[in-house]
Amino acid sequence: VALRVAVLASGRGSNLLAILERIRAGDVEAQVTLVAGDRPEAKVLEAAARAKVPAVAAVPPEPNETAAGYDLRLTSLVAADKPDLVVLAGFMRIVGPAMMAAFPNRIVNVHPSLLPSFRGLRAVRQAVDGGARVAGCTTHIVTPDLDGGPIILQAAIPVRPDEMEEHLARRILALEHLVLPRTVQLYAERRIQTEGKRAHIKPGASWLGRPGIPFVSGALYSEGF
Ligand code: GAR
Repeated sequence: VALRVAVLASGRGSNLLAILERIRAGDVEAQVTLVAGDRPEAKVLEAAARAKVPAVAAVPPEPNETAAGYDLRLTSLVAADKPDLVVLAGFMRIVGPAMMAAFPNRIVNVHPSLLPSFRGLRAVRQAVDGGARVAGCTTHIVTPDLDGGPIILQAAIPVRPDEMEEHLARRILALEHLVLPRTVQLYAERRIQTEGKRAHIKPGASWLGRPGIPFVSGALYSEGF
């Protein structure tokens, strides 16, 4: 049976659509069973409904709700769907201890920088302001250390001279659309193991050389693709 994936997202939803597209193409052996978002107006919820994801939920925080209360409420909603993997695809909220306890080593996040550089908000802005010459994206396992959990996959591109944040963000997003679905497939193949602060990827099938995968030319892809 295909890996059951719950996606949490706050925004436009292009990473969700990239996962759904790779599932449709047969490159990712998973099913997205639930999409939940903290912002009811977010495009990602419309996109999920249009793509016929079986469960789509808007879960905004309630007035006066504590962070712990929200964490518990979101965790029970997600746990009821019995996912094998929880994917944060542009979820702009800190995942709490209840969620982490419910899905140990089974929550992954995509972040628009080469971690451990540029954690936190506006990572692409941070890279441009910091004069980074190489940029990219990372998937990692979510732990209480914000954007600091074990790294799974990365892809990198050179920053162009005088490149603007918006332009670089768009090029990084194209990398995310490979890195995140590929990460889901590694889970589907049960190839991710953690040892302390590190994730290990067991050897196995690769996407390199496979037709139809939207690889970005000139990018560098880490071991595990
Ligand atoms: C992506 O660039 C993702 O890496 C970023 O939000 C964007 C969501 O785009 N996430 C973070 O910055 C997490 N701190 P999308 O809604 O089109 O998938």
